[in-house]
Amino acid sequence: MGRVARRACALLLVLGAACAPALPDPESPGAELYRTRCGGCHRLYAPATLTAAMWEMQLERMDREMARRGVRPLDTAERDTVLRYLQAHGSDAAPPEGDS
Ligand code: HEC
Repeated sequence: MGRVARRACALLLVLGAACAPALPDPESPGAELYRTRCGGCHRLYAPATLTAAMWEMQLERMDREMARRGVRPLDTAERDTVLRYLQAHGSDAAPPEGDS
């Protein structure tokens, strides 16, 4: 039973469905916004998969994707919060200091 459930979960992950995706700093406003605004069209990409510069580029592209699909684009504050969150955990982010 447990094994079957684990396998189903792995399969869902492969298919891109949300199987409780483990985001870093999951309670932060950035993570919250990322979940609510960015998970509607595709799975949430782990912040550590892209560099800070790549996240900035992707957000610009997502503006266009959202406009094209009639989804309300991120406002400036939302954009800032999401971008800072993604960049703080990006692949070229400085390793967290101390006991955060
Ligand atoms: C309105 C639907 C929609 C929303 C909302 C959306 N995306 Fe996307 N996203 C897409 C589509 C469609 C693609 C694939 C086409 C492309 O890459 O240009 C994509 C691709 C991506 C990719 C590239 C994946 C790859 O393998 O190249 C990233 C990263 C991404 N989105 C991040 C985000 C982030 C961050 C947000 C929230 C700010 C977001 N998306 C919100 C539609 C959306």
